[in-house]
Amino acid sequence: MGTSFSTGHACGVAAAGNAHDYAHPHSARRTRSPHLMTRRRIALTGAAGSLAADIIPGLLARGHTIVGIDQRAPVDTFGCEFVECPVNDRAALLTALRGCDAVIHLAGIPLEAEWADILRANIDGTQAVLEVAEQLGIRRVVLASSIHSAGFVPVPTDGSLVPDDVRVRPNTLYGVSKAAVEALGSLYHDRFGLDVICLRIASRFAEPTGERTLSTWLSPADAARLFDACLQVPSPGFRTIWGVSANTRGYLSAEGGAAIGFRPEDDSERFAERMFAASDTDPSLLASDWDRAYIGAFSARRNHHASAAIPHALDLGICYTDRNRNDRHRGQRCLCRTPPLQSFWWCRAGARPERYQP
Ligand SMILES: NC(=O)c1ccc[n+]([C@@H]2O[C@H](COP(=O)([O-])OP(=O)(O)OC[C@H]3O[C@@H](n4cnc5c(N)ncnc54)[C@H](O)[C@@H]3O)[C@@H](O)[C@H]2O)c1
Repeated sequence: MGTSFSTGHACGVAAAGNAHDYAHPHSARRTRSPHLMTRRRIALTGAAGSLAADIIPGLLARGHTIVGIDQRAPVDTFGCEFVECPVNDRAALLTALRGCDAVIHLAGIPLEAEWADILRANIDGTQAVLEVAEQLGIRRVVLASSIHSAGFVPVPTDGSLVPDDVRVRPNTLYGVSKAAVEALGSLYHDRFGLDVICLRIASRFAEPTGERTLSTWLSPADAARLFDACLQVPSPGFRTIWGVSANTRGYLSAEGGAAIGFRPEDDSERFAERMFAASDTDPSLLASDWDRAYIGAFSARRNHHASAAIPHALDLGICYTDRNRNDRHRGQRCLCRTPPLQSFWWCRAGARPERYQP
């Protein structure tokens, strides 16, 4: 069990914004300070995933020590301790999280899938992480929510910005799971006094992938800044915050991020000219009607559950979920929709990706 840690220096960031920020009645029985300060031992679930690969180097550079947890081995551990287990395995989690000062919980299915799978990975998994954190007296948990928890919120047409705590309005079963992730975070804050920040991550890619993501892009460098801010801010209470860069065309509020000391430095605008030029030959780069209507864009159509339509004989080696051909779900049987392309890609291990029309 990790020892209690002292208050350390204040980072000068006010715990304000949409938080339920008050002195929690349970905090007195805690051994650990509600203030998480610099350079602590952080458990990071989903450590073999692409978001983890984006943020781990930045967190290490800021002096944090990371214990990675994932149900599959990562391509690169970045020199961190790594524990291979599903987050649903509470006994393994109890051992892996022991001695940690905070948890960054990224593990889960990051897009639309079958309900039973989403339920187990995203909802049961998050409850297990929060429960074990509470048992171990870990006071801070950062949860990966998603823009899809509020995906059916209309894109503002009057220049206003969508607030960080806009009500949940999921546009997929995946979005429902992220709404549940937020609800679980709220519960463990209100009932047990944990500080829980839910990041409503928008579109985290190396580069914007089309016209829509010029508005919703979260750069890898800003993602690292955002997660670090979540670890540094004193006593955030419970809050939901957009995970988005400082995009000129953005419509998601930056207030929640600013309130925890997140200062995004990237703007998708530098990609805009090239993207629109490319759209002359690839019109799928341009925003669709869904993109213009709802912040979560695609996904209102029933055929989103395309994984059910995968011919069982196909031995899918790699599934690509975006036009950058990010490699996700290596070795898993899945089929994913590509938001800007409104299409699906799949391939056998080692083969070129092909479009798939269910
Ligand atoms: N990348 C984005 O743009 C984006 C946007 C919004 C939200 N998010 C959220 O961020 C998180 C990480 O996304 P990502 O893009 O890195 O996805 P990813 O698929 O690359 O990584 C997710 C990782 O979680 C692991 N995992 C899944 N279920 C698990 C379980 N039950 N136990 C242990 N490990 C498990 C997988 O093995 C994988 O390595 C997800 O929760 C996702 O919903 C990502």
